Amino acid sequence: MPKILLRNFRNNDLEAVCRLNYLAFSDPNLQDGGTPEAGAYRLRSLTSMRMRVLTRLFRYRLEMIVAEVDGNVAGFVMLTGRDRVNMNTLMVDPQYRRCGVGATLVQETFQRAQSLGYPFATAEVLTTNLPSAKLCEKLGFEVFDTFTFYETPLPLSQPAEYLLGNRVAVRPVREGEQSAFAATEQTLVSAVDLHVRGSAIRFYYPSLYRQLVDHREHKQYQAWAVEKDGQRVGFQYLHSSLGNPKGTLTRPMLPDAHLNFLPSILVMAGDWFSELGKHTLRIEVPADRPHLIENLFSWNWQPSVEWLCLVKWLDSGH
Ligand SMILES: CC(C)(COP(=O)(O)OP(=O)(O)OC[C@H]1O[C@@H](n2cnc3c(N)ncnc32)[C@H](O)[C@@H]1OP(=O)(O)O)[C@@H](O)C(=O)NCCC(=O)NCCS
Repeated sequence: MPKILLRNFRNNDLEAVCRLNYLAFSDPNLQDGGTPEAGAYRLRSLTSMRMRVLTRLFRYRLEMIVAEVDGNVAGFVMLTGRDRVNMNTLMVDPQYRRCGVGATLVQETFQRAQSLGYPFATAEVLTTNLPSAKLCEKLGFEVFDTFTFYETPLPLSQPAEYLLGNRVAVRPVREGEQSAFAATEQTLVSAVDLHVRGSAIRFYYPSLYRQLVDHREHKQYQAWAVEKDGQRVGFQYLHSSLGNPKGTLTRPMLPDAHLNFLPSILVMAGDWFSELGKHTLRIEVPADRPHLIENLFSWNWQPSVEWLCLVKWLDSGH
């Protein structure tokens, strides 16, 4: 077992950490549409002086931890968030794997989160990422949600019969709709999920900090209220990131009784993403929406990757 030294990220680690990012995420099975280039861009952006100032100003939590072995950067992890924290960008140089570097970094994030007063930390792992899933399981993470991306090529060839009588209109969400959004969300998202992940309202109504980060990362997004004959029937958030050929719809805030309106929403989302040059449209579907899954299968949408949403409880009550 090599001697592992943990320390905070320093500016002169940037190139080594970006190199690590290429080594760790060049396997397409670990990318889910992102690229190592986009990952490196994000790292550069997050570690820039401007972002550090913004992070402090908005009291956002950004812990970046480096593991050194023999004086080399062997691993890296981030802990990010504000009212809750998420562990992400965990990566270990292939030549130092299976020596405990990953586990040491993850345990350090637990300690930091705990000492900062957070009752839990979250992470997301692709089900195909066996090393990471096993590592998280070994260190006590529990699965609280799973979701699958279903996808289809763009431009969309949605059979016209599904649209008959089911066309809806979309418009940007309005400030005054936040409580209606929260009420819809509570009927569609489990209480555990809401407790751990928090409301998706932060995507529909992003904070100033979020808007600045999204702008800097060239994230493209729209937050829609969906209307049928002037009545609001649901909400939908769409986004895509730099270099990602896929446009994503987050879990639809559309009750099962209104799923007949989904094809119309998909057509409008497909048009928007096609204009942005995206090749694939995908939709996030939690495992507890069987009717939504049935509908997507009947429209020939295919499941692509599945994600595990994990929580590590850090307070003594669990
Ligand atoms: C996942 C990753 C960080 C693990 O780092 P690591 O330093 O090799 O992990 P550790 O040596 O600390 O392993 C701790 C435990 O994790 C599990 N584990 C790690 N690698 C594993 C593998 N290839 N297969 C099965 N289990 C594995 C084992 O339970 C292991 O304990 P053990 O060695 O006593 O059996 C590393 O494989 C990596 O960088 N992968 C690419 C990037 C990535 O997927 N990041 C996570 C994104 S969510």
